[in-house]
Amino acid sequence: MNKTISIATLVIAAMTVTACGQQSEQKAEQTRNATAASTPEQQALMEREVVSARKITKDFVGSLKGELKKAMQEGGPVNALSVCHTRAIPITNEVATRHGVRLSRVSLKNRNPNNAPNEWQRPILEEFDARAAKGDDPKALAFATIVEVDGKKQFRFMKAMPAGKVCLNCHGAELKPEVAAKLKELYPEDKATGYSLGQIRGAVVIVKDL
Ligand code: HEC
Repeated sequence: MNKTISIATLVIAAMTVTACGQQSEQKAEQTRNATAASTPEQQALMEREVVSARKITKDFVGSLKGELKKAMQEGGPVNALSVCHTRAIPITNEVATRHGVRLSRVSLKNRNPNNAPNEWQRPILEEFDARAAKGDDPKALAFATIVEVDGKKQFRFMKAMPAGKVCLNCHGAELKPEVAAKLKELYPEDKATGYSLGQIRGAVVIVKDL
């Protein structure tokens, strides 16, 4: 039996505060406890894991973007598509091994059929979209929780990935015909197009057994 108990959950969002006509960003951290109130030890553990997860996310996104940039420069988006197709998963696994965690990317409109969210990831992605729609900065949206699965503690982290300009070459609403053709060939069930600038494309997921 797979029993999951939530110990502590942290939803991290950014609120845009307008003060004296100037826009400044204020980080708002909200703690929701599903079962018992979390202890100071649990909160300290959560904070450590969140700091580490942010570093892993940076490393991961940096590795992916580095490869993407190189492939785009070498042969444009069609070449980069093939590179993403063959390299995205191996890069994910390399970074995961380096940090001793499980790592993935998920989306409500996934391109790779393996990147569909599971039952705990889907509501978080939906919450990210809802918060962005209400005006939260998508770049600042993250989620962290510590749960107990079959008596063992597990840390779970998700960070929203907004679509930047370069992303729209392959995820946008207006694709070059050769890009659309290549996508059809590589991903016949692709759902990951039609995005606009700043829209949440998906999320990085980190899972770590504590
Ligand atoms: C050159 C084309 C290309 C560009 C540019 C591109 N992607 Fe992708 N993206 C892909 C491909 C191909 C996949 C599927 C990779 C695989 O098979 O694992 C993918 C998958 C993803 C996924 C995993 C979920 C899914 O749909 O399978 C996310 C999240 C994602 N891309 C976000 C981005 C973001 C954010 C950017 C901009 C920084 C970006 N992509 C730029 C081609 C691209």
